[in-house]
Amino acid sequence: MIVDCDPGHDDALALLLAVGDPRLQLLGVTTVAGNQTLEKTTRNALRILALAGAGEVPVAAGCDRPLVGELTVAEDIHGGSGLDGPDLDVPVAAIADVHGVELMRRLIMGSAGPVTVVATGPLTNVALLVRTHPEVLPRVRRIVFMGGSTERGNTTPYGEFNIVTDPEAADIVLRSGVPLTMIGLNVTHQALATEEIIAEFRGLGTRLGVVCADLMTFFASTYLRVFGFEHPPVHDPVAVAAVIDASIVRTVAAPVAIELTGTHTRGATVVDLHRRTGEAPDVDVAVGLDVDAFWRLLMAAVRNAGQT
Ligand code: BDR
Ligand code: CA
Repeated sequence: MIVDCDPGHDDALALLLAVGDPRLQLLGVTTVAGNQTLEKTTRNALRILALAGAGEVPVAAGCDRPLVGELTVAEDIHGGSGLDGPDLDVPVAAIADVHGVELMRRLIMGSAGPVTVVATGPLTNVALLVRTHPEVLPRVRRIVFMGGSTERGNTTPYGEFNIVTDPEAADIVLRSGVPLTMIGLNVTHQALATEEIIAEFRGLGTRLGVVCADLMTFFASTYLRVFGFEHPPVHDPVAVAAVIDASIVRTVAAPVAIELTGTHTRGATVVDLHRRTGEAPDVDVAVGLDVDAFWRLLMAAVRNAGQT
């Protein structure tokens, strides 16, 4: 698996799940501008991997802005660093000396078997990979992305952050012909970091457990302030969980289009659940989540990754 991400509190947990679950082989991590600038999301990825004892996993920085238009970061949710809350002071490994899209190409072409790409940020890097290196696509088993919704948005009334940040990139990925799974807000809003979950992280008795508890405590404060949510939804690890255990996320096949020109709806995911358009149902759209199984998986991975 390759994780393309913009950490980001929930991206951090997605990375920990990818590192800590014994069934996954994390080949590399690429970063993208989104929740914060590229420089910050890259530093955050390096820090989380270092804390998880996975400093050997190659990390490369990708695109520093969307394909079209300017970047708007989510500082109101993730803070000035992109990972506000915990003490993340840790020596980090060096970043790979290649662009993130090139690292993805090399990892996919060099892998003995097909590779799953999990994208938990704007789809800029993945779209560039699709456009500039189509030769890798037959070797991509599936692209699982956290983004969009079958319902309403969180950045505009109908647009979710990752898709709204780079709608053209999402459009390219959705037309790539690669098998796709969409993990939208309609399911991630069920993965809530309650007080009990935060206490469980803290109770793991490792530095990583404390980091996770502090991350979720900060995330809870911003979700309460910005959205009025009682508990924050941890979107991104749901995409990794869906790869580890397909029974955790229920999907239905449906056509999905990205709204690129809507007056009020640019960046919306138009999911044809009732199959009215006649388009091919070529995206597996998440519609259900086994919440308990999801948290068991994530907790076990954090326990496993953070031995000290
Ligand atoms: C998505 O946006 C980001 O803020 C989160 O990390 C997640 O990937 C949720 O809309
Ligand atoms: Ca993210």
